[in-house]
Amino acid sequence: MNKDFNYRSGINFTKFKTVMRSNLCGEVDGGFVGRKVILCGWTNKRRDHGKLIFIDLRDFSGIVQVVFDPKFDLKSYNTAKNIRSEYIIKIKGEVRNRTEDTINPTLSTGEIEVFADSIEILNKSKTPPFSLNDRNKVDEMTRLKYRYIDLRTESMQWNMRLKHAIASSTRKYLDENGFVEIETPILAKSTPEGARDFLVPSRLNPGSFYALPQSPQLFKQIMMFSGFDRIYQIARCFRDEDLRSDRQPEFTQIDLEMSFGSVDDVIRIVEDLIKKIFYDVLNKKISVPFDRISWRESLEKYGTDKPDARFEIIIKDISNVFENSKLKIFRNVLDTNGCIKCLVVNDYSKFARNELDGLVEMAKKNGAGGLIWIKVEKDKELQSPVSKFLSESERKGLINALGLEEKNLILIVADEFKKACIALGSIRNYIGKKLEIINEKEFKFLWVVDFPLFELDKELNRLTPVHHPFTKPDKDTVRYLETEPLKVMSMAYDIVLNGEEIGGGSTRIDNLKLQKKVFELLSIDEKRMKENFGFFLKSLEYGVPPHGGIAIGLDRLVMLIGRLESIREVIAFPKTQSAVCMMTESPSEVSNEQLKEVFIKVSKDKNK
Ligand code: AMO
Repeated sequence: MNKDFNYRSGINFTKFKTVMRSNLCGEVDGGFVGRKVILCGWTNKRRDHGKLIFIDLRDFSGIVQVVFDPKFDLKSYNTAKNIRSEYIIKIKGEVRNRTEDTINPTLSTGEIEVFADSIEILNKSKTPPFSLNDRNKVDEMTRLKYRYIDLRTESMQWNMRLKHAIASSTRKYLDENGFVEIETPILAKSTPEGARDFLVPSRLNPGSFYALPQSPQLFKQIMMFSGFDRIYQIARCFRDEDLRSDRQPEFTQIDLEMSFGSVDDVIRIVEDLIKKIFYDVLNKKISVPFDRISWRESLEKYGTDKPDARFEIIIKDISNVFENSKLKIFRNVLDTNGCIKCLVVNDYSKFARNELDGLVEMAKKNGAGGLIWIKVEKDKELQSPVSKFLSESERKGLINALGLEEKNLILIVADEFKKACIALGSIRNYIGKKLEIINEKEFKFLWVVDFPLFELDKELNRLTPVHHPFTKPDKDTVRYLETEPLKVMSMAYDIVLNGEEIGGGSTRIDNLKLQKKVFELLSIDEKRMKENFGFFLKSLEYGVPPHGGIAIGLDRLVMLIGRLESIREVIAFPKTQSAVCMMTESPSEVSNEQLKEVFIKVSKDKNK
């Protein structure tokens, strides 16, 4: 939890007075002493001390202690005996100071208690499956099944209100800057952007399907063609992909699109927006502009296109040191245009032998052939399983090139450029966490720019877009489109926060011929072009302004600002890893009648 966000301090208590209650539970402080209040809420806890009964009464604003004293009001005292956890009650009473020794400084209401002279049970509750105070000890599946109870906990109230505060600040900023919020269809068309679609059968059009939007990408572009100049959406997106702790099948993006602007315009607007969010929500000033790093440099230094720049360990290239190497692995790699890269860690004693073996496995799991470690011993002696293959000049070369000191640990991967970088990138992240050298309080934003337009899918032996097929090629490299498409760079940008991609966007293609060429290079033939994108290609024929935009993953942003471990913490009703909603038990079978209505027959044999 990020303590800088305090939703309670922003509650306008005067707005919550209703016919039923005079005040909120968290509102009643020392200033109320001597006054009568009427409060409603959930029974957080009941303690029966014999002579007195105490109830901690809870609503979203806080907890207040209510006292039932038979001498004060016998009827209420007797009713309070039957109250159980999570009963909803309404009490009337008088606010009194607590005795000195019972003051609770952790509660805003901790100086007072309410002596009840009336209690009404508004609703009873079964014994809840878990105590709200034990949330951290409860299995997540149970919490998701009883999400309505989980959402009552202070953590979930905080998470959802943080998300609201961020969305609200976003809306304010974009409204003030001329962006119009326009909805676009959820029952949309399959226009593949990279992930698998969720499909919805159409009853009125037998055999035809809508697709839920993976993002409002094409609609927001078309809004530019329609002359709206600047639009935004807090948009629901749907992608049928494998889930992780930062991925959900339905999630929310802050989507924006603008006309007659450049990459720098979008970047400036997003920086200003983030600055406002931090100021409004956390009362924190962050400095802009954010650093920009090219995709290539990001891979070279950090081994990823979403670098965590909160710590300084950087990948180094040591191919030169080994240009005459006799070591077979190094020789083979260098002879086939590969490279030798490494990380240097200060103190090898932090890594036991089995942990070094673990790092070798980690490198392999991340696509590299393996990993070689070298320890720098006394007098800069190099100790490693491969020491005997290192020549004297290589030893010296390595010590000089890396400025090695006694106790250093060198972790080397020799492989193709991308494989070596990516393997060391994941090891770098692991080391950062293990050595606790990451400042967990820091928010390190940066832009990754200068991405290639395409990458090669080696399995399918065809080009795929690094962003999406609507991204404009960079003007300096567009000439390679026909001859060497992998050399073409794009006008795309990603925004990264603490090593997580929180958003991505680009200047878009605004020319029919170019758009068709890019589709063609992506192996989308005329027939598919027409079927999936016919409407869009047509729209490009009728006067299209230069335009671009971005989408920021709202859930991910909230998760990172809130310093939360999982995206499920910021979504009220999320799906599990296997895309199931534990509370509603969806997805679920539907009746044969429903299936018939949409002309669908389900084969129970999963292989058919
Ligand atoms: P992209 O696919 O990069 O771009 O998505 C933008 C951001 O959305 C978030 N995101 C997700 N969050 C949770 N669960 C998911 N399954 C998920 N997938 C993506 C990420 C990501 O950075 N149409 C383009 C944007 C554009 O070009 O304007 C798009 O959707 O934080």
